[in-house]
Amino acid sequence: MDLARFPRRRYTAYETPIEFLPNLTRALGGPDLYIKRDDLLEGAGGGNKTRKLEFLMADALAQGADTILTCGAVQSNHCRLTLSAAVKEGLKCQLVLEERVPGTYREDASGNIFLMRLLGAEAIHVISDGRRPADVMEQVAEELRRQGRKPYIIPGGGSDAIGGLGYVACAQEILHQTYHMGLALDHVFCACGSTGTYAGLLVGFHGANAHIPVTGVSVSRKEAELAPMVAQLAGKLAEELGISAPLPDGEIRILDGYVGPGYSLPAPSTVETVRLLARTESILLDPVYTGKTMDGLIDQIRQGRFRKGEKVLFVHTGGWPALFAYMEETLKEG
Ligand SMILES: Cc1ncc(COP(=O)(O)O)c(C=O)c1O
Repeated sequence: MDLARFPRRRYTAYETPIEFLPNLTRALGGPDLYIKRDDLLEGAGGGNKTRKLEFLMADALAQGADTILTCGAVQSNHCRLTLSAAVKEGLKCQLVLEERVPGTYREDASGNIFLMRLLGAEAIHVISDGRRPADVMEQVAEELRRQGRKPYIIPGGGSDAIGGLGYVACAQEILHQTYHMGLALDHVFCACGSTGTYAGLLVGFHGANAHIPVTGVSVSRKEAELAPMVAQLAGKLAEELGISAPLPDGEIRILDGYVGPGYSLPAPSTVETVRLLARTESILLDPVYTGKTMDGLIDQIRQGRFRKGEKVLFVHTGGWPALFAYMEETLKEG
């Protein structure tokens, strides 16, 4: 599995650290907890999309694009990071934001909306009438083509067979680091939204014969909907990489019980988890992705799923800039 043959831009010059979480491990009394700090990736606030964008932007440049289009929810980390990568490459960037919860887009909002404006999006198109973001991106692209411009569309979350390579690369990075740390992992946990992160890690470990189980914690969809999406993307990635052995049965492990009231809406336990990580380890989680994922991991530990001394790695996929759009919810006790 040779990732070097795929065109790639480099936005982060270092491996993100893997750190032990001594205080959280002690507080929970379960397995030894480690964290992969992808919140420290480069790109105006960091987060998982930077890894995917290294491959996606290389493809956009190879195709001669001058404008990047992508879509996401109103507080999308993916849109912020895509814009950040476009800024670095000297490309224009237009964003399509979908109001999945009615009335949630406010131009003067903090968090990612503020950052998208600060980073200078060429245009922000907000959909609140049920149109599909992919259709709106295609319309915008058509208009740009009429003007003689060259748009490149990145799908929501950057989760296609190009973007997913970013998390295959992350799996290789984790194996390289844990080898040098003398750390044999028993389990990995990550968030699962548009599936690129989870599918990329699965394929990356599988392609390296690492046999490390990975659990994806859903931030929106039910397992029945998400698992086939993961299988499909994992299949495409494996094909790109020339991995002929299929993922073994049972390898896709998804937990869908930690979504709370819905996508982007934190449950009380999400908020407790965000506070717990801030107050035990000074780690900033977000209430949309990593707060729910860690909530899932903590609940599984409390249910006795892991033995004391087992090594569990939580992949911190970023998202903390969204915290500033959730100040009231995050500080409200009880
Ligand atoms: C902070 C954060 N974590 C996790 C995810 C989910 O990753 P994926 O879309 O690859 O499933 C996202 C997606 O936007 C995100 O912004």
